[in-house]
Amino acid sequence: MTPRRPGDPSESEAIHRMIRVDHAGEYGAARIYAGQLAVLRDGAKADLVRHMRDQEQAHLDTFNTMIADRRVRPTALLPLWHLAGFALGAATAALGPRAAMACTVAIEETIDAHYTAQIEELPDSEAPLRGTLEKFRGEELEHRDIALANDAEQAPGYRLLSAAIRTGCRLAIRLSERL
Ligand SMILES: [Fe+2]
Ligand SMILES: [Fe+2]
Repeated sequence: MTPRRPGDPSESEAIHRMIRVDHAGEYGAARIYAGQLAVLRDGAKADLVRHMRDQEQAHLDTFNTMIADRRVRPTALLPLWHLAGFALGAATAALGPRAAMACTVAIEETIDAHYTAQIEELPDSEAPLRGTLEKFRGEELEHRDIALANDAEQAPGYRLLSAAIRTGCRLAIRLSERL
């Protein structure tokens, strides 16, 4: 871990924050894909989205167990992510399958950077958690690759849509660490 400065959270509080935000993120991811599937139903890309949804559910199950075992307080913002995640998924899918895939690229690239930073930050005493994050990070990158292979970048207004979702995702991360 990077050296601690005065006013920094203790190591255990720092790790609680990591688990809190990761739990929130996986919760939101599961809701995004649920929102997309509610719109796409059995459309052309639905099977791909279901595959990603199932992996997000497995990620969420892992963090649900972890917050219980380690007595981590979940973020107070879960009800917000419940609504906002579903709304983002449904809205992007309503713009079309390519926009749904553009949403996945924006989210998963942001999460890749987030998990990469956490993996670097974790002390050696948290090697098992680091292994979990490395596995999940690999699956998030797989989601990004699926989305890129399915014309995410051909979505109408791709750059604007992508930038807006990345900004929202980074804000959600900052809020979920703290609240
Ligand atoms: Fe995930
Ligand atoms: Fe993901």
